[in-house]
Amino acid sequence: MQRLNSLLYFLAFVLFLFAGAEATRTKDRIYAQIEGTAACFRRLNGTHQFGCSSRRTGNVGVLQLLKEPADVTWLTKEAPDDTYMAIVHSNMFNEQTLRALKDSPKVGGVVLLRSDTEENNLASYSPEDSCPNRYSGLSSFEKQLCSDSKPWNPKGSSLLQVDWGFPIFYVHSDTSIKNITDCYVKHNSEREGMTTRSLCAMEMQAFMIAAKDSETCFRRSNMINNLNPMRFCDPMGDRNVWATLFARDASEQEKSVIVLAARLDTTSMFEGEAPGAVSTVAGLVTALATYSLLSEMKTELSPARSGGNVMLMLFNGEAYDYIGSSRLVYDMSNGMFPPKWSNVPSLNISKIRMMIELNQLSQINQSTGAVAPMYLHKTLDNPDIAKFIQSMKSQQADLNLNLLDSTATSIPPVSLQSFVKADANFPGVAITDYDQSFTNKFYHSVLDDVKLLKFKYSNGTAPPSDSIQAYLANLSTALGRSIYELIAQKPYTGTTKVEPTQMNELLHCYLNSLNCSLFHSATNDDFTLPEYPPPLYVGVSNSLNAVTGLSGRLIALLTGAETNSSKEECKLNESDVVRCP
Ligand SMILES: *[C@@H]1O[C@H](CO)[C@@H](O)[C@H](O)[C@H]1NC(C)=O
Ligand SMILES: *[C@@H]1O[C@H](CO)[C@@H](O)[C@H](O)[C@H]1NC(C)=O
Ligand SMILES: *[C@@H]1O[C@H](CO)[C@@H](O)[C@H](O)[C@H]1NC(C)=O
Ligand SMILES: *[C@@H]1O[C@H](CO)[C@@H](O)[C@H](O)[C@H]1NC(C)=O
Ligand SMILES: *[C@@H]1O[C@H](CO)[C@@H](O)[C@H](O)[C@H]1NC(C)=O
Ligand SMILES: *[C@@H]1O[C@H](CO)[C@@H](O)[C@H](O)[C@H]1NC(C)=O
Ligand SMILES: *[C@@H]1O[C@H](CO)[C@@H](O)[C@H](O)[C@H]1NC(C)=O
Ligand SMILES: *[C@@H]1O[C@H](CO)[C@@H](O)[C@H](O)[C@H]1NC(C)=O
Ligand SMILES: *[C@@H]1O[C@H](CO)[C@@H](O)[C@H](O)[C@H]1NC(C)=O
Repeated sequence: MQRLNSLLYFLAFVLFLFAGAEATRTKDRIYAQIEGTAACFRRLNGTHQFGCSSRRTGNVGVLQLLKEPADVTWLTKEAPDDTYMAIVHSNMFNEQTLRALKDSPKVGGVVLLRSDTEENNLASYSPEDSCPNRYSGLSSFEKQLCSDSKPWNPKGSSLLQVDWGFPIFYVHSDTSIKNITDCYVKHNSEREGMTTRSLCAMEMQAFMIAAKDSETCFRRSNMINNLNPMRFCDPMGDRNVWATLFARDASEQEKSVIVLAARLDTTSMFEGEAPGAVSTVAGLVTALATYSLLSEMKTELSPARSGGNVMLMLFNGEAYDYIGSSRLVYDMSNGMFPPKWSNVPSLNISKIRMMIELNQLSQINQSTGAVAPMYLHKTLDNPDIAKFIQSMKSQQADLNLNLLDSTATSIPPVSLQSFVKADANFPGVAITDYDQSFTNKFYHSVLDDVKLLKFKYSNGTAPPSDSIQAYLANLSTALGRSIYELIAQKPYTGTTKVEPTQMNELLHCYLNSLNCSLFHSATNDDFTLPEYPPPLYVGVSNSLNAVTGLSGRLIALLTGAETNSSKEECKLNESDVVRCP
């Protein structure tokens, strides 16, 4: 299947700062390279290009700090120089400023200065469309699911869907912010006499090859390929990650499957800065913990089980027209999932008894600070769905959950849309922290981070009883028990539950640092695990995200059976579900 989203190759993202007698005379320049930056990059869909690129040789301009809207007017109307690099802090990095700068021929680039330690004081910032995935999923069907008058993402500014025409950099290291600010204050802050003295200027390099739209780009790449291995762009994509509770051998072929799903990717305007704490990680870790709980209950289940199997499914690339889920549905409809070479019987979409999808799940109402309710969005009414919802609700008093039926009349922009698009009678429930529109005011932005989710790692101590860890652990417990009841077809009477400490470790890996104990246990010594959170932007299909493979290994660690294999044997059989001694 052809994917229409693509990402252009970039040569390098480099920011230089210099001051000289004349900004345009290279020999007079005193350069300093700026570290700790991330650049806005270019993407294409079937008909348009979006994002940013510099010129091939880089863009150069005089630094100008924009503190308030009046500075924007001055820069675009009165400023004496030909080209400026606009510097803004997060309070000015908004739709109004950026669109005004885009329309001005004087702006050669924009730099956002925001320290990693800066508190988020903004009321909202979502560069995503107000209707995420507006042109895919169910949106093209007559049952219109999102409109500008009643959007899912009311804070969305669609900055991600703009073709900027200049580079935009995000500078987050404190020393670089100080360097830029110092240089500006020393040389440029005085507007008097600007034309006669030396000024601080900046050169931005973030050139992305090729342009226009995916089709043109792929055609050019293929043409050139014969003579020269140069490619202009690559399709976006990665791998979905999945596992089943009971091995799907031939005896399972006719059995139905309950799919527990979450997304594995998110996005933002800047390369490598896509934390997705609320949009992605909260649902992802809840799915992982739920699956791990079911695996602990497995021995109680195997003989009696009459309600089928459980499949954990982590979809990748959902931010871009549901790449992962639409591919899975396509493969299923062609009898190609799982692939033939795996010798696992193929799974027909009609064998999915129900899909339970975990989407945005934050604990705190962002406006009031109170514990937020969770909403159940169902695709239709059937006995299984009724049983599942009834079972979830019967546990809410015990586990201190607040579950409500969604009042929305359509399905939110979640992976379930890909399935309902293929089969109007597809049974599914999406669990979210929103009813008719997102409560997350920072959807698909760099600010959808660990602070927004209010996660604080409890190092060696039990997480507080009102923490996000405790809250998501309770939700996982309820989910695990409800799914158990569906496949065992009897009430759950045990006491197995998800501990907040497990949730604590999971969130730590996905939000604070890849160099965490769970990923260490899930890999061997050959892995270098860096000290930063995994960027969750899906990227291009020929380079897999580290987090994709790590999540697969983590599932093996959390649910696999222990064997007495040596370390060497484990290394040999990488793809097996083996827990190393
Ligand atoms: C800051 O600027 C100085 C010179 O002005 C330079 O030596 C230094 O490398 C710069 N540091 C960073 C982090 O850009
Ligand atoms: C590409 O995006 C633009 C702007 O968001 C939209 O108008 C157009 O329909 C999209 N094209 C495809 C093929 O989805
Ligand atoms: C899936 O099942 C449906 C109904 O049972 C059937 O019509 C369809 O051909 C099957 N698809 C594949 C790929 O086997
Ligand atoms: C959060 O609180 C505000 C104010 O009470 C309310 O309008 C909003 O619906 C709440 N959000 C959720 C998700 O409950
Ligand atoms: C989680 O459930 C336990 C009961 O098992 C309850 O005591 C606790 O308050 C709940 N925690 C949260 C954060 O709701
Ligand atoms: C946790 O505590 C241990 C022991 O005090 C320390 O070595 C480690 O760096 C801490 N980890 C984090 C992530 O704070
Ligand atoms: C990862 O953590 C271990 C200790 O847990 C430490 O020895 C190692 O240096 C860390 N790796 C990096 C890349 O920071
Ligand atoms: C591993 O070896 C120990 C002792 O050699 C044995 O008791 C145990 O049953 C073995 N476990 C498995 C899973 O084979
Ligand atoms: C790994 O594979 C080899 C050869 O295929 C096999 O002999 C060995 O038992 C396997 N080890 C494990 C731990 O599965």
